[in-house]
Amino acid sequence: MTVRLGERSYPVYVAPGLISGVGSLIAERLPSASGCAVVTSENIWGLHGGALANSLEAAGFKADIVLVPDGEEAKSWGETARLIGELLDRGFDRRSTLIAFGGGAVGDLAGFAAAIYLRGIDLVQVPTTLLAQVDSAIGGKAAVNHPMGKNLIGAFKQPGLVVSDPELLASLPGRELRSGLSEVVKYGVIADPELFRKVEEKGDALQDAEPGALTEVVRRCATIKAGYVEQDERDLEGIRAALNYGHTLGHAVETLSAPWMRHGEAVAIGMGFAGRVSVGLGLMKEGELERQRDLLASLGLETGIPDLKLVEILDAIKRDKKVEGGSVRFVLPTGIGTAPVIRPIDETLIVRELGREGVG
Ligand code: GLY
Repeated sequence: MTVRLGERSYPVYVAPGLISGVGSLIAERLPSASGCAVVTSENIWGLHGGALANSLEAAGFKADIVLVPDGEEAKSWGETARLIGELLDRGFDRRSTLIAFGGGAVGDLAGFAAAIYLRGIDLVQVPTTLLAQVDSAIGGKAAVNHPMGKNLIGAFKQPGLVVSDPELLASLPGRELRSGLSEVVKYGVIADPELFRKVEEKGDALQDAEPGALTEVVRRCATIKAGYVEQDERDLEGIRAALNYGHTLGHAVETLSAPWMRHGEAVAIGMGFAGRVSVGLGLMKEGELERQRDLLASLGLETGIPDLKLVEILDAIKRDKKVEGGSVRFVLPTGIGTAPVIRPIDETLIVRELGREGVG
């Protein structure tokens, strides 16, 4: 499929075993590429580096790798400077291509570096987690963290190509895979009842990393994501913001529970909360909220709010970028697979709903 953004349009390929085709796809899609730097972590390179290196070498590229830390630790200003220093030391020029080979954090760091290195070089996303394949590798958001908050330094950097191989997901720890499935459920709720049903039907196969089932959902999610990005590339029109379903409370809970909570686990908690607010406002039926809760539970994802203090949660929500003019913007579902509404929610309502959850 293609993300249609005029001269910044690019293809997204999703197929089992496609890691062996990355080199030839780069040669075909970015024919003037003079060299490739692979940004990855030791763990990912140990698991899948051989296959990527073979594919690049078969297409005439040297696999020149730059190792970065796993997870959020990669997303710092310091790591950005170190990565850029490595690229300069190794003589990468303006026609070089940066390959982001890892999960969302690697994609963010590499995307940001590709946006600013020598005023911008080509980027190829080769995501290795479910979360990155269904969401973060597509759409061009690239950012690192600042001590004042997550993702505060960054750029929009659309890749030239995204290559997703769902077979790579078999090596993910179960918890990481289930965390990614939370974002799949998100797409089902905000945009696609059929996808939601598919996850209900194939939950076990998805949790067992069965490549056929994963390929089907990754393709569908990539198509949905592309639609949002095409309509609202810079997240300014209130369209792409629907992808933040579950992220208002989710980000707060994730920040307060770091480092042990996974992103998708926090999003599941956030979707549970936003769903309850929706039901309270008469926007969604109780039965649909139950369906969401049952599906998340069947994927091992809790929707109850962990043991955190009300004042901490409110502070964390307010520090987030979803606060505008003093009120907190929530993405509120209207059903399973129907477009949500995005509304500022009054603090008293948030406090009341959190109170119902036993948060005090
Ligand atoms: N992950 C949300 C977005 O790309 O807009």
